[in-house]
Amino acid sequence: MTTFTPIHTHSHSWASDTGDWRQRAAYNSAFGNCRRRAAITTEFDADQLHHWAMQLSQDYLPDRWERVSSSALTRVAVHRERGLYYKDFVARSPAAALQALATGSRATRARINGEALLLAGIDAPGTILWGQLPGGTEYLFTVAMPGAGIDHWLRNLLAKRGPEALRQRRQLLHALGTFIGRVHATGFIHGDLRPDHVLAALQQEQFRFTLIDNERNARKTPAPGRMLLRDLMQLNMLAPGVVSRTDRMCFFRAWRRQMRELSPIEAKILAAEAYRRALRRLHHKGQR
Ligand SMILES: Nc1ncnc2c1ncn2[C@@H]1O[C@H](COP(=O)(O)OP(=O)(O)OP(=O)(O)O)[C@@H](O)[C@H]1O
Ligand SMILES: [Mg+2]
Repeated sequence: MTTFTPIHTHSHSWASDTGDWRQRAAYNSAFGNCRRRAAITTEFDADQLHHWAMQLSQDYLPDRWERVSSSALTRVAVHRERGLYYKDFVARSPAAALQALATGSRATRARINGEALLLAGIDAPGTILWGQLPGGTEYLFTVAMPGAGIDHWLRNLLAKRGPEALRQRRQLLHALGTFIGRVHATGFIHGDLRPDHVLAALQQEQFRFTLIDNERNARKTPAPGRMLLRDLMQLNMLAPGVVSRTDRMCFFRAWRRQMRELSPIEAKILAAEAYRRALRRLHHKGQR
């Protein structure tokens, strides 16, 4: 086996750790036809991580790893005690391979876009190790971020209609609007803003959000209306039985407050159109 120099690190927070990993800890080693590059680590041994990746990519679950349901073209697993997520990206179509040449592979985009969010002060999972397996499949180990998808909060955790649940729902939707408004006002478009790609954690009575699955992020200032519309439409893909009109208004009012350059009419059109399109899509999918 190729020798592997342990990677140094500092033990400060993940968020600041990930920002300058390329300068600090870049590690690139030939490993058969595999390549690896580490972002950190004292706590993680890159050889161990790569070995896990080899096993996980072959659908073998090493000790203490759990499978997480994911889309057909990815494999996701979690090691809860180590606070670690694994994700691999099976090479898609020839067209996707061409796109990868032009814009970077899915894993590379996810990693770089995540770093850009972190640098802008927006929570995203920091990368622990990126690597490539024989056959070209890439993998990422990322920091497990706290919280649950906002769909889970709205459907399950805060589904009851008692006064306390209602107060927390409104608090969640207001905080979410402010967060997404800040993301958009900073010029980020998520590009795949399904409700399960925004994690929310309640910490000291405040909701804290994390954006995950960042490979389709784009950055444009000001963000074009149709890109905003797409993000907002995806976020609205929750049935009226789960999220009421008043709930949605609560989100939009907070979102709008961050988007100062939008005229009142632009903001209204975006809100109404996002809602209309989301309902139409839900209808087509048979979810309402
Ligand atoms: N770093 C992380 N921290 C917390 N949860 C995570 C993390 N990475 C993944 N997850 C969880 O795993 C689920 C699946 O991950 P992800 O959304 O990245 O994969 P996917 O949806 O299958 O991929 P894609 O949408 O790119 O095809 C997420 O919905 C989330 O619950
Ligand atoms: Mg996903």
